[in-house]
Amino acid sequence: MQSRDTPPTTTPAASGAPRTADATYDVLVVGGGVIGLVTAWQAARRGLATAVADPAPGGGAAQVAAGMLAAVTELHYGEEALLALNLAAAERYPSFAAELAEASGRDIGYRRCGALSVALDADDRAQLRELHGFQQRLGLAAEWLTGSECRRLEPMLAPGVRGGLRVDGDHQTDPRLLTAALVAACERAGVTFHRSLAARLRLAGDAGAGGDAGDAAAGRAAGAELADGTRVAAGQTVLAAGSRSGGLAGVPEAVRPPVRPVKGQVLRLRMPGAGAPFLGRTVRAVVRGSSVYLVPRESGELVVGATSEELGWDTTVTAGGVYELLRDAHELVPGLTELPLVETGAGLRPGSPDNAPLLGPTALPGLHLATGHYRNGILLAPVTGDALAAVLTGGELPDATRPFAATRFGRPARHRHEQHEGQHA
Ligand code: GLY
Repeated sequence: MQSRDTPPTTTPAASGAPRTADATYDVLVVGGGVIGLVTAWQAARRGLATAVADPAPGGGAAQVAAGMLAAVTELHYGEEALLALNLAAAERYPSFAAELAEASGRDIGYRRCGALSVALDADDRAQLRELHGFQQRLGLAAEWLTGSECRRLEPMLAPGVRGGLRVDGDHQTDPRLLTAALVAACERAGVTFHRSLAARLRLAGDAGAGGDAGDAAAGRAAGAELADGTRVAAGQTVLAAGSRSGGLAGVPEAVRPPVRPVKGQVLRLRMPGAGAPFLGRTVRAVVRGSSVYLVPRESGELVVGATSEELGWDTTVTAGGVYELLRDAHELVPGLTELPLVETGAGLRPGSPDNAPLLGPTALPGLHLATGHYRNGILLAPVTGDALAAVLTGGELPDATRPFAATRFGRPARHRHEQHEGQHA
């Protein structure tokens, strides 16, 4: 079990490690979760020699995530800029799913199922009505349904449902299938996997990084040293390690991404295989202030999520977390307690100060970010891959991603420079 206070750390295997690079690439992606993989795949597709450093590529938060593509149903007040990116991502999904299926030979479970947000009492109903008004002002497609209309659509819903919002444009994909497909696509595209944690960012000027501290190239990211002692040299390094992205040693303080772990506990149940489908679409509600969602897959898996807990690095599945999810899900769909509970798990969302991702170049030349996706990592994977591929090949961040530039929380350039000098003089 991990401690809640101690971030996962790694120390380089220092003694006896070679001082020159063991491997050299155009791009090193630090982190092989869904965001790191999509970045590596898209970079390799554009002809860049690309490597990923991760002890278990395809792991991370995507193994727990439900895979809702919920741009409209998960709309939050004050996040209108993020909404535009989420909508662009949702629009990109069908072509992304087709390209990835073609490249990997695998299906990613993209399902155009729609979603229904329901209210269980008068307060929920008022809140949902307000959200509907907000959605309408933003021109989003969401239809108000009465309680009986909701139950006609989803007969397993509780008789007490007081109304709901039907959103036919919010779909789902299966994050486990998605990551498996991305690993396969990366392999086919020639991405090299270094199955070790990145332990320290290399800077041009580090011993063995191809320059000395006094030369003109000093002050440039140049790859990473891995926990197994491998020294990976790269012209461009992408920090895509989810909630761990802020913890890589050697990253100058001024460009360190401000991400934090936000724990989510999730359950997996099995729906009956025969007869009428248990649920046809994603169903969600806010019950006594906590959000609960049920995501039914064609495979028969029913994902119930998620808690949202600021508990540091703790990934313990707690009795309280499971109880609250089952209690709230049972209020929505009473028949759910008859289903086999087949899995519980907890993952860490990479939260950022404005709940939006940090994308593209940092103030340190050669260092890019693809992190901070918080609740939207699965949804934003396609546009993140596109954006990082654009900047890694010398282009600009595409328009939709420009408000989410990695530099937006940065400190003034002078301060950045001083900090960098201080660390590496
Ligand atoms: N987007 C779902 C979650 O973060 O729980």
